[in-house]
Amino acid sequence: MAVGLAHDFNDRTVIVTGAAVGLGRSIAYAFAERGAAVWACDIDAAGLMETASAAPAPITTRVVSVADRAGVQDFVGDAWRGTGRIDILVNDAGGLCGQTFQPVDEISEQDWLTVLHANLTGAFLCVQAATPAMKQAGYGRIINVASNAGLHTTVTGIQAYASAKAGLIGLTRQLSQELGRFGVTVNAVAPGAIPCNPYGLAKWESLGPEGQRMALERVAMRRVGHAEDVANAVLFFAQESTRWITGQTLSVDGGRP
Ligand SMILES: NC(=O)c1ccc[n+]([C@@H]2O[C@H](COP(=O)([O-])OP(=O)(O)OC[C@H]3O[C@@H](n4cnc5c(N)ncnc54)[C@H](O)[C@@H]3O)[C@@H](O)[C@H]2O)c1
Repeated sequence: MAVGLAHDFNDRTVIVTGAAVGLGRSIAYAFAERGAAVWACDIDAAGLMETASAAPAPITTRVVSVADRAGVQDFVGDAWRGTGRIDILVNDAGGLCGQTFQPVDEISEQDWLTVLHANLTGAFLCVQAATPAMKQAGYGRIINVASNAGLHTTVTGIQAYASAKAGLIGLTRQLSQELGRFGVTVNAVAPGAIPCNPYGLAKWESLGPEGQRMALERVAMRRVGHAEDVANAVLFFAQESTRWITGQTLSVDGGRP
């Protein structure tokens, strides 16, 4: 789907994490159809294969956990060696990691860490791997996919998720200060609920027509969000003309009260 803005990412190399479903897949496609060399990773091999097979232009995919420092270094290093550059990093991997609400006094340390590693530490490790290429080039765009859960609270109740996304917003602000002098901008998008992954789609369906109508009453635009809405916001931060914007978090939620 075209965004109606003239972005040209020919000759740009873009890393997209969490590209096996929903937002990450849509973000990978948005860059691929604008000429970028897209390198996409995820831990979900089957989903990643689907992403590659339906891509509007060839993309490179690899099964990598963003929580695995060595795997991330190899993946980003191969993209750098293979294309000669790393221009744009989109840290989309994360989500709820299959978890549901548990009272805070019952959560295992492992469950807490799994969500933190996928949503926050993973972004940190990808930034560590990508910044040498960006510093060398004097150019870079880092875009973190946070969440309204990091700005407000999450209806899922998952404490680690809200904490990780708030942390990602903090990391975005802090890195913008550190990396600006190298020509690297660091921004975040904060989506509202978008039924684009199996969990989100099932939850949306379970609301039924009346529940869905009531949910949309709480959205200014009165419609459900699409993955492309988030991809368009990512493209906004990646384009040349927004080079003076850094350290920002943009809600992409159709307008909430
Ligand atoms: N869809 C929404 O409603 C919504 C709202 C706000 C924020 N977000 C955020 O947007 C991003 C994409 O969400 P989504 O709904 O498209 O999918 P999602 O939340 O189901 O998961 C994102 C992807 O990350 C992958 N992933 C998880 N842990 C990983 C790891 N350690 N290494 C590599 N990949 C890993 C998953 O396999 C999945 O493909 C997530 O970070 C999510 O938290 C989504």
